[in-house]
Amino acid sequence: MFRLLVLTLCGLGSLVSASTFSPARPPAIPLAVKSPYMNTWLEVGSDGGSGGILPGYWPRFWAGPQPGPVAGSNGAVTAWTGFITVDGTSYTWMGAANVNGVVPPSVTQTSFEYTSTRSTFIMNVAGKISMNVTFLSPVTPNDLRRQSVIGSYLSVTVAAIDGGSHSVQLYADTSAEWTSIHNTDIAQWSYSVNNGVASHSSWRQTQSEFNADYPDDAAHWGYWHWSTAATSSMTYQSGQDVTVRGNFLDNGTLPDTQDTDYRAISDDWPVFGFANALGNVGSSPVETLYTIVHAQQNAIYFDGANGDVSVPSLWTSYFSSDSALVNFFYGDYGNMASLSDATDNQFAGDSIAAGGQDYSTITSLSARQAFGAVQLCGNETKPYLFLKEISSDGNIQTVDVLFPTMPIFLYSNPILVKYLLDPLFENQESGQFPQTYAMHDLGPNYPRAIGHPTGDGEYMPLEECGNMIITTLAYAQRAQDTAYLTQHYAILKQWTGYLVDEALIPANQLSTDDFQGQLANQTNLALKGIIAIQAMSEIASKTGNGADATNYSNIAHDYIGQWQEMAVVTDADPPHTNLDYQNDTSHGLLYNLYADRLLGLNLVPQSIYDMQSAFYPTVAETYGVPLDTRDVYTKSDWQMWTASIASKSTQTLFISLLAKWINETPTNRAFTDLYNTQTGDFADGPFIARPVVGGHFALLALNGAPTAASG
Ligand SMILES: *[C@@H]1O[C@H](CO)[C@@H](O)[C@H](O)[C@H]1NC(C)=O
Ligand SMILES: *[C@@H]1O[C@H](CO)[C@@H](O)[C@H](O)[C@H]1NC(C)=O
Ligand SMILES: *[C@@H]1O[C@H](CO)[C@@H](O)[C@H](O)[C@H]1NC(C)=O
Ligand SMILES: *[C@@H]1O[C@H](CO)[C@@H](O)[C@H](O)[C@H]1NC(C)=O
Ligand SMILES: *[C@@H]1O[C@H](CO)[C@@H](O)[C@H](O)[C@H]1NC(C)=O
Ligand SMILES: *[C@@H]1O[C@H](CO)[C@@H](O)[C@H](O)[C@H]1NC(C)=O
Repeated sequence: MFRLLVLTLCGLGSLVSASTFSPARPPAIPLAVKSPYMNTWLEVGSDGGSGGILPGYWPRFWAGPQPGPVAGSNGAVTAWTGFITVDGTSYTWMGAANVNGVVPPSVTQTSFEYTSTRSTFIMNVAGKISMNVTFLSPVTPNDLRRQSVIGSYLSVTVAAIDGGSHSVQLYADTSAEWTSIHNTDIAQWSYSVNNGVASHSSWRQTQSEFNADYPDDAAHWGYWHWSTAATSSMTYQSGQDVTVRGNFLDNGTLPDTQDTDYRAISDDWPVFGFANALGNVGSSPVETLYTIVHAQQNAIYFDGANGDVSVPSLWTSYFSSDSALVNFFYGDYGNMASLSDATDNQFAGDSIAAGGQDYSTITSLSARQAFGAVQLCGNETKPYLFLKEISSDGNIQTVDVLFPTMPIFLYSNPILVKYLLDPLFENQESGQFPQTYAMHDLGPNYPRAIGHPTGDGEYMPLEECGNMIITTLAYAQRAQDTAYLTQHYAILKQWTGYLVDEALIPANQLSTDDFQGQLANQTNLALKGIIAIQAMSEIASKTGNGADATNYSNIAHDYIGQWQEMAVVTDADPPHTNLDYQNDTSHGLLYNLYADRLLGLNLVPQSIYDMQSAFYPTVAETYGVPLDTRDVYTKSDWQMWTASIASKSTQTLFISLLAKWINETPTNRAFTDLYNTQTGDFADGPFIARPVVGGHFALLALNGAPTAASG
């Protein structure tokens, strides 16, 4: 009977109208995306994804090909299963569970919608029941206590839609796969009830603090807490996947038992199930709320001003234990949801006002990904925001990743930019980086911020000196924090000295776009250095260093004149800047010009802005404007930086092509920032779930920019 029904529904599947997607069909859908380790997505793109349908596919850590031990495969599965039984017939609403050959048919997904904080799927169950399945990963930039919780909500609301009432049982589980990407690792788990919240906790049996090395990337320490309300209609079980899921399918309930045979993740696959007997459901919606929390007491190992220290997760300042944290988070759903509504409305409203619906389509897909690559750490007196260069090798606090990411933080709460910069200043000002230029990153492997005491690290001296100065001034202007400029004046001046020597004629070196290789005389890199010298003039002026202000302004103005001579291809049709001074057939996105507007410096003549605005449309491809003439790839972040200072029509072109890419790209990678402008597919190299999508907020970060800086 049951199997017959499976066949019948599969046959009908093609007749049922397909799900709608609003505002777009993204390459991957964020499910629980809240930290570098809680980063679970539904792959969508045709490169191997689900097409955006929740049931029938396993959610995965990041999304897209995983480097390292599982090379060539897709991201590691973080199994998450949902079943619903309506009038005795069971269906799958999440995951791809096969219970001894029985695969409950999928509910029919009718629509999908995303906002900055939510992914919502609406399901029709046999024409009887409507289900709203909402994944909420809160983004609360102005409430650091709440933002510090590494937790995500899953809300499932059901209601009858046929005027009747129906018997409904709901089931959801997570598997031990959340505890490690290595299925041979031993997991341990326990079940507890605290103040009305029932939790299955699970963890890697051997805790290895500060170990999440490339290419693993998943944390080898910390505790995962999967929770729901401990009501009388809730039953639970931990145990083998087919046993627990089979109990629900056979009986609609679980036996309230725990499996204590702790074992490898793939050894009879332990899962952690909850079943809810919802009774007869009529037209009034009935909600079941689940949470998943990742709790690490210590988060980062940091070589700061006082040597190596363990930096706690910021949530430990507010909550005394994992269970206090979980209880708070579960009970705080109403507040978290309304604060997230406020974030959704603010990000979407400001985006639509600044750049139209297409722009909101881009920014609202980017918000969780950017906030999901950082962790609030430290304590209330001294918070830090640590950033992981996810996928492109896992460095911590990479300056040229922090730089493109910065607009989302500058826009949503500038203090977050200070918390990103502080660890870099602390390490270098305490003399732990023996170079005159700024360091590239705070360590090769997040979460170990051990610096580069021998002065090594990826060599991007011009890039990083410029980035540090520009980012520091951008923060200080928005926060009106002149004291911060005074505090760091000496090292900022040291880095400016490097720029005065090196920026105008850049040596053969990398820029942030290191996948393109080294190049001498890079026009865009020189521009960053020159703008940073003018930024230092502004810093000097604000801090009462008048002679320096005059000197740096004179140098920057002299340089920008010389730069125009070498950078502008005046006899091209239309004229444009080159990629490198020597090559007049080359060109590229002049995205560093953004810093001139962001800081209100007015160093670069308007004619350069206008010239570039007229040029870009002439080299646009199907899905965007190539980064430069070396290949057909582009960067989404640099496109949005470029767009935000372009003429309105050119800006609209950039935005509409990126929104089109989101809808049409075949990649299933979490918003890859490097892609092919002709085919829309991803480009080689690991560019998955990276924080730089925070740069898509470039246009919004210009709100509140000084219109003309002094000096
Ligand atoms: C599901 O969401 C839709 C759209 O937001 C809403 O109209 C409907 O009332 C919701 N249904 C339930 C059962 O919550
Ligand atoms: C099925 O559910 C009933 C009622 O909750 C319970 O008495 C029975 O033990 C369950 N059987 C199994 C196999 O779980
Ligand atoms: C907060 O962190 C700072 C820097 O790590 C440390 O010096 C201070 O003692 C901490 N304060 C508390 C109350 O733990
Ligand atoms: C201006 O700055 C440059 C580079 O730091 C320095 O070499 C020069 O001495 C300064 N000139 C004055 C007048 O301060
Ligand atoms: C870089 O530009 C300068 C100034 O035009 C020129 O003298 C130098 O030869 C160029 N370097 C290279 C490697 O082309
Ligand atoms: C100049 O740029 C074009 C376009 O990128 C490239 O094909 C050519 O090789 C470059 N020439 C030199 C001398 O670098």
